Amino acid sequence: MRLVLVGPPGAGKGTQAEVIAAELGVPKISTGDIFRANVSGGTPLGLEAKRYMDDGDLVPDEVTNKMVADRLTEDDAQKGFLLDGYPRNTDQAKVLDRLLEEQGHHLDLALELVVDDDEIVRRLSGRRVSKTTGKVYHLEFDPPEDPESADLYQRSDDRPETIKNRLKVYADQTAPIMGYYEAQGRLVRVDAVGEVETVTGRAMSALRGHGAE
Ligand code: AP5
Repeated sequence: MRLVLVGPPGAGKGTQAEVIAAELGVPKISTGDIFRANVSGGTPLGLEAKRYMDDGDLVPDEVTNKMVADRLTEDDAQKGFLLDGYPRNTDQAKVLDRLLEEQGHHLDLALELVVDDDEIVRRLSGRRVSKTTGKVYHLEFDPPEDPESADLYQRSDDRPETIKNRLKVYADQTAPIMGYYEAQGRLVRVDAVGEVETVTGRAMSALRGHGAE
């Protein structure tokens, strides 16, 4: 199955993508994770991406599209994938469609995680990530064993002023892609408020209702 996961910052895309991709037996491909790995590694791509990520803006399409196109040619993505965080505007959605068409494939579904702004701010401000394992915690909803541990850090784009810009960028640039997918009958919406397992259950039954195995 070829699937994209869309939703506002902090909707739980990364959390759900991990489990859903494992259930479907496809790789999870997160553009945010790839950018962050490049930022940590100090690569030219990372240096370029960081300038935008720190302000909560989108990395330019030509950079992002090429990175995704390269990733989708890898062996593990040939039988399907779950894209987390891409596409993020209508142009990216069209590029992805063209790319898949050239490979003789098509996107099956866009799964939208629906969460309101208050919940997003709560989720992002409480998010902490382990430096060693990369595991994502939440101080209240999924607390780490030692919340004061030096191993935990807060993402630089989870500061209140950056969160505000990310929500604006989402509303202005990303939300319109729902109309694009809906017009093609490929949009599936899932209420993403509730326990992580409850949301996974809703997502999986929606996907199975649309042919996922
Ligand atoms: P990206 O990493 O994609 O950030 P995002 O879309 O803003 O999403 P997040 O990673 O912040 O949140 P999430 O939805 O994955 O939530 P999570 O599961 O962590 O992108 C970062 C940046 O990279 C962008 O701003 C941009 O600059 C650049 N970029 C990336 N893709 C790009 C593209 N295609 N084009 C251009 N630029 C791009 O959950 C959040 C918190 O909530 C966690 O603490 C978690 O534990 C908790 N939580 C999760 N589920 C629940 C639940 N059900 N109940 C309670 N708490 C929960």
